[in-house]
Amino acid sequence: MGTCMLDIAFAKAALPKNGALVLFLAPGETPSGLVEAADKATGGAITRAISIADFKAEHGKSLNLLAPGAGLSRIVLIGLGKDVPTQTSLEEAGGAAWPSIAKENTAAIAAPTLSNEQIAFIAHGATLRSYRFDRYRTDEKADAKPTLTKLTVLTTDIASTRAALAPLRAIAEGVFLTRDLVSEPANVLYPAEFAERCRKLTTLGLKVEILGPKELTKLGFGALLGVAQGSEREARVVIMQWNGAGARSKEKPVCFIGKGVTFDTGGISIKPAAGMEDMKWDMGGAGTVTGLMAALAARKAKVNAIGIIGLVENMPSGTAQRPGDVVTSYSGQTIEVINTDAEGRLVLADVLWYAQQKYDPRIMIDLATLTGAIIIGLGHEYAGLFSNDDTLAEQIAKAGAATNEKVWRMPMHPAYDRQIRSDIADVKNVGGRPAGSITAAQFLQRFVNGKPWAHLDIAGMAWLTHDTSLAEKGAAGYGVRLLDRLVAEYYEG
Ligand code: BES
Ligand code: MN
Ligand code: ZN
Repeated sequence: MGTCMLDIAFAKAALPKNGALVLFLAPGETPSGLVEAADKATGGAITRAISIADFKAEHGKSLNLLAPGAGLSRIVLIGLGKDVPTQTSLEEAGGAAWPSIAKENTAAIAAPTLSNEQIAFIAHGATLRSYRFDRYRTDEKADAKPTLTKLTVLTTDIASTRAALAPLRAIAEGVFLTRDLVSEPANVLYPAEFAERCRKLTTLGLKVEILGPKELTKLGFGALLGVAQGSEREARVVIMQWNGAGARSKEKPVCFIGKGVTFDTGGISIKPAAGMEDMKWDMGGAGTVTGLMAALAARKAKVNAIGIIGLVENMPSGTAQRPGDVVTSYSGQTIEVINTDAEGRLVLADVLWYAQQKYDPRIMIDLATLTGAIIIGLGHEYAGLFSNDDTLAEQIAKAGAATNEKVWRMPMHPAYDRQIRSDIADVKNVGGRPAGSITAAQFLQRFVNGKPWAHLDIAGMAWLTHDTSLAEKGAAGYGVRLLDRLVAEYYEG
């Protein structure tokens, strides 16, 4: 299923006989262990290269030595930087190694000054960076493709290194799934197909339930169905359940909710043509929730968690909803649809209410590529965080900092509600240009029934327009690592 993950093998620290050797160095470190051994075996090539290039082992900096001798195709030196290494700095160092080794057949990594847990973080970073979505490239030249399928971790203790990497592998699996979903074009990944891909997650032990138009009509999901009605593609709501709390099996679940607009044309309030192709990733919130649920199941997280995603396609057509239409949401509140392009909040309104009524969650967090305005406000560095609960907001901010999937808390206040007052219905779906991301969050809050809730506007985060240390340009997989960390820190055991 999906994109294959880089294999990780483990071996006792010894000089490899061929292929690439990647060595992670701290500034000013005196060569020891494998670094010293490799330097000797190559007649001092490493110390010479360090001096000629004035390599200072700054964080993420690399130095490539081609054909250094001793049978090796290359030695890659990667700097760890002078600061005390953190999980994310080590992951980034591992990711920085990838471009140098991608086209090797054999590669091994070693970091004599680091612990086995720390080298696992490095291997995890390299794994995340190795992702590539190439299923539609049929005529790519062989020498343009990465060839490395397995990375060997050289370690003093194979068992403990493997154990440290195991949960990280589960997380990487989740990130890869999210990236696969977000990368797929909308002619391939429409709501029913997305739901089928979720169904496959039953093999991980998730319980997966799929609601179609019949069930949704019966339940009264008028806001979600209003968005879907312009499309030939039927709507779906998918509920993925992970019951991992064991002895605490009666514990209320944590609930994650995702916007899954598999394509957003804007509907009758149609978007301009330029850049509209980006709207294939308007299901990014649902993609993150799905990847997260896969990760939690794959690492057997000790938590009861539920992921619910609302899947629709927003199209203009003779059956599409019109500006000015009034729909009745699952909560019973009526909504005047002023702009059919503000569709994400309509989808989330019904799913949020359903999550509370049906599952009585401890907390709920929704993720959505909800507003262009959040990109104007925060760019592509921070997701917007909105919450009715300071404790939950603080937890998310900490998990974001720990994983370098950053969030910035935005204000909420009833004063903004004036902007979404309707002349004809209980609320309208747009609040004008000022504070566009905040009025969207205020709208969502109407469908939150007193539960601790947070909303992450990830419009600026779901897609990368350039390579980073942990991903190639394209689908980022943003949020899986952040929310997995949140669960691990605050909601397990
Ligand atoms: N999916 C878009 C938001 C978006 C824009 C995501 C750019 C990623 C990149 C959302 O459905 C939308 O169209 N929002 C409108 C809201 C407006 C009509 C109030 C927007 O942001 O312009
Ligand atoms: Mn839209
Ligand atoms: Zn949208």
